[in-house]
Amino acid sequence: MQPKHFLTTQDWSQEALSQLLQLANLYKRNPVNTVLRNKTIALVFFNPSLRTRTSFETGVFQMGGHAVVLSPGKDAWPIEIETGVVMDGDAEEHIIEAAKVLSRYCDAIAVRAFPKFQDWQQDRQDKVINAFAQHASVPVINMETVVHPCQELALMQTIHEQLGTPQGKKFLLTWTYHPRPLNTAVANSALLIASKFGMDVTLLCPTEEYLLDQRYMQAARDNVSQYHGSLNITHDISSAYQAADFVYAKSWGALPYFGNWEAEKPIRDQYRHFIVDQEKMALTNQASFSHCLPARRNVKVTDAVMDADYCVAIDEAENRLHVQKALLDTLINRSL
Ligand code: CP
Repeated sequence: MQPKHFLTTQDWSQEALSQLLQLANLYKRNPVNTVLRNKTIALVFFNPSLRTRTSFETGVFQMGGHAVVLSPGKDAWPIEIETGVVMDGDAEEHIIEAAKVLSRYCDAIAVRAFPKFQDWQQDRQDKVINAFAQHASVPVINMETVVHPCQELALMQTIHEQLGTPQGKKFLLTWTYHPRPLNTAVANSALLIASKFGMDVTLLCPTEEYLLDQRYMQAARDNVSQYHGSLNITHDISSAYQAADFVYAKSWGALPYFGNWEAEKPIRDQYRHFIVDQEKMALTNQASFSHCLPARRNVKVTDAVMDADYCVAIDEAENRLHVQKALLDTLINRSL
């Protein structure tokens, strides 16, 4: 039988996600325990991290388990992802063996594998995490690919802490400027989780070209229909911020220019004024502000906003620790 994985929150019901969040609250109050005693978790990083690596390693340690951190191509063999290829390039082993071998040693495998940023039609297939999920015999956890579901859980725990029930509250997801095109994962994920919990979601971005992949736009539409929220798409900054209860900022590259970033740069450079500042926050319903971090100060968001009492980005980062403990406990110890 295939183990239960955590690849995207869309595979999980709102009820199951709520149970995870309740368990996360328990772990927030009781951080140290032996729930993962004699358990080992593989953390496979194809890309850098500060929060994800530290929160997973620390969380596993605080639960009495052990985390093995691997960076393929650096301290572990480079891995081939494609099937049926002649492996006469850099890769020394295939993902099929890597997933199966790690499954013999470890009780879960967590994977971070960002898009390669050359061809969105390739990247959106999310081949690395899906291959791990296909070939592993233990639960596989997404630590950020084209979505970032662990960040979603931390965001939703933070929203509950700030707003109580999220149902019917106005959630603003705003695009912000960044000098480089960034992954759409956190933006996709923010759409998924806010809509899954019945929020009135506003997506603010400069033009239609900055809309997210149809897979996530449609999932958000489906979610708001099922969970009685709403989805509003706008390019007007003032109306987007008006009466917002929670403001979430992220930068991402425009999908029509994926892999052709030089062409996007002069377009993106016109929208530096999407920076989150105090004037925009003053339009809200005394909203909380958050960001998944890392965030470039005074590019994406001003110092004044980052340092304001209403900025809960550090709380959200802390909550990564608690929600991931709940996730590991649920996937490894509880029958789903
Ligand atoms: N938010 C987040 O995932 O941070 P890292 O990239 O530092 O892990």
